[in-house]
Amino acid sequence: MAILTISTAILLGLSGALAEHFNVNVGKGGELRFDPEHIQAAPGDTITYHFFSRNHAVAESNFDHPCQYTEGGIFSGFVPTASESDPDPTTFTVTVHDEEPVWLYCPQLNGGHCQKGMVHAINPPDSGDRNLHAYRERASSAPNSTVPADGRPYGGERVVHVQVGVDGEFVFSPNEFNATTGTFVEFAFNPKNHTVTQSSFDKPCVPLENGFHSGFVPTEDSPSDVKFKIEIANDHPVWFYCAQGNHCKQGMVGSINAPVQGDKTFDAFRRLASHVESPSIPGPVAGQGGELEGGKTQHPTPPSGNEENGGEGQQPPSGNPPSGNPPADNPPSDNPPADNPPAGNDDEQDLGDSQNPPTWAGWEQDYLNTIPKPGEADNNQHLVDMAGGGAIAAYGWPDSITDSAVKYLQLLNWFDNIILELLMAGYQRLHSGDWQGAYPRTIVDAIGAMAAQGYMIRTAATDSLQHYNKPTMELCKYNLDLANVDDFLGKVLYAVLMEIGLLLDLAAKFAETDRWLVPVTASSLGVRARMAAVINLMQNHPAAASPREAYLPAEFVYSYTRQHYISICGTGEDGWAEPWAEPLPNLEIDRTDKSNHGKHRVTNIYLKLEDSWARDRDLWVAYMGPWGSVRYSPVDDAGKSEVPANLWGHVWIVLTHKRDVPITDLYGASVAGPQLLWIG
Ligand SMILES: *[C@@H]1O[C@H](CO)[C@@H](O)[C@H](O)[C@H]1NC(C)=O
Ligand SMILES: *[C@@H]1O[C@H](CO)[C@@H](O)[C@H](O)[C@H]1NC(C)=O
Ligand SMILES: *[C@@H]1O[C@H](CO)[C@@H](O)[C@H](O)[C@H]1NC(C)=O
Repeated sequence: MAILTISTAILLGLSGALAEHFNVNVGKGGELRFDPEHIQAAPGDTITYHFFSRNHAVAESNFDHPCQYTEGGIFSGFVPTASESDPDPTTFTVTVHDEEPVWLYCPQLNGGHCQKGMVHAINPPDSGDRNLHAYRERASSAPNSTVPADGRPYGGERVVHVQVGVDGEFVFSPNEFNATTGTFVEFAFNPKNHTVTQSSFDKPCVPLENGFHSGFVPTEDSPSDVKFKIEIANDHPVWFYCAQGNHCKQGMVGSINAPVQGDKTFDAFRRLASHVESPSIPGPVAGQGGELEGGKTQHPTPPSGNEENGGEGQQPPSGNPPSGNPPADNPPSDNPPADNPPAGNDDEQDLGDSQNPPTWAGWEQDYLNTIPKPGEADNNQHLVDMAGGGAIAAYGWPDSITDSAVKYLQLLNWFDNIILELLMAGYQRLHSGDWQGAYPRTIVDAIGAMAAQGYMIRTAATDSLQHYNKPTMELCKYNLDLANVDDFLGKVLYAVLMEIGLLLDLAAKFAETDRWLVPVTASSLGVRARMAAVINLMQNHPAAASPREAYLPAEFVYSYTRQHYISICGTGEDGWAEPWAEPLPNLEIDRTDKSNHGKHRVTNIYLKLEDSWARDRDLWVAYMGPWGSVRYSPVDDAGKSEVPANLWGHVWIVLTHKRDVPITDLYGASVAGPQLLWIG
């Protein structure tokens, strides 16, 4: 059910945005440079500039007159910033209109930034004498920099980003800031039920007539998609507050362009608000004076009317929490008492989970940097909803478990940790890191959902191990260098295909020793197979060819993992890894031959052979096809092996010194590998 939603989301996402989004750091680390220094962008692409100390701007000149503002060209306005490492909440975003070069510079006079080489270009030619290098050369002897006379932003959108109630705190962050004329202020809503409402200085917590007001934004998502955006029309001070309950009195107030001295400062405003007698006046019901975007979380769906929300993952009725087991997303109890709203004096309604459709965001807030330990996140409703259901409820645990099952469940747990780590690392970068904008939001959500499912799947192994008092596997230090999004997708696909192979092998093994584990294994298999299909879609591969039910013996999974993913692990200390022999050496495919007929199918592979691999004996490649079938093909001295006919899609291979060994005995005959081969 949830998986269906994900694939639909991906199709929708792919058919939509194709434009790319770039981020540029301006003066990060105190350096007088743009990073990256130039960007190759297509019409429709967007570029967001992030500002660091000291006081930089982006301005446009023509090639021949660097540091001199071209009338009507791009100008961000100056962004005075305190930090060299954290970007200012002000950003400037431009949309690329054509493929012509755009020449840009930092116009800061103090220190002559442009003349010192702080220049930047969109689509500069990379050869000829009018390239970025030549522009910088000219800048070094240019006259003092110039900017538009009125100092306002041009040719792009200057935005100050403000978080509303982040981390459950009753604050705006930042709450005191400047915004020049022509700047937008974008308020992003976080969980609870807040507003952004304009007041006067003298009457904090009371709506200003004809002032802006977002309306109430109840949401459980963090960050939510809901944003309220206003435009700053002049340099007069602006005062605002949250109109919910007594949030304003508790300090949920803010100012724009407030004087820093005199008696009308931000601090004076906040003090005044804290002495307000009556609760806030809620303001008009509907929003006004700004633009509310992404209102999806504003309209909670009634629980009965939502098919997708029925059944699994439903909360117990609100007000009746499971005893002794507080939901993971409760506010921490160590808040200083003074900050807590007096009981019963806050008319904000508790957002019962059953009121909202399942949403992806929120759970990763807690777990983005640390993978939850077994059991730690089972009560996190966001996680359960996003995964499309909680952990397995009924295992049918018998009185005992065999040693062999323990060993294989530990391997499964070990491997689930890797997939979880991969998905979380990629998701974090897509969602809020350096890959932000690489994919539409729907796709990023799908990866988040896969990570949530990764957690739920892992409980199959960890619950069972814990039930029998057997050790679960610690997280290792992983070696998951993710060069770019494609690399990430590739690695996820490898890992998921490997787990599919492993689960098939385990199902066969458990069927002989611990039959209750067969259905447990089968349900994980279903989820992983669908995950592989989704990744294939994202890679533009035909989905049908790929989630091949290729069987992969557990020993090979262990070898591949040790070769490719683990840099440091608690092997030995926990007494676990020892049942496994040393991993096989890595097997590398140097190159392949492809045939033209038969849709560029791979016909030959060339392996990198090590001298130590018993070259005096015969070598074979074992190709593991679907359903446990193995085909053998000899390897010549140059490492060449012909791919057996009628194999398609992804196939695992290993190097052996025997042929015609059944898959169950293959590990004992292997020299190196495994490796995944895409045949076509
Ligand atoms: C250039 O700028 C510097 C620093 O602001 C200033 O001292 C100098 O007078 C300016 N030169 C001209 C020609 O305007
Ligand atoms: C706003 O601008 C004024 C005048 O330039 C400056 O003194 C003040 O520090 C600025 N306030 C903030 C919060 O940056
Ligand atoms: C949000 O708060 C307002 C004002 O207290 C209230 O009327 C509304 O019902 C709340 N919405 C939700 C979903 O709790």
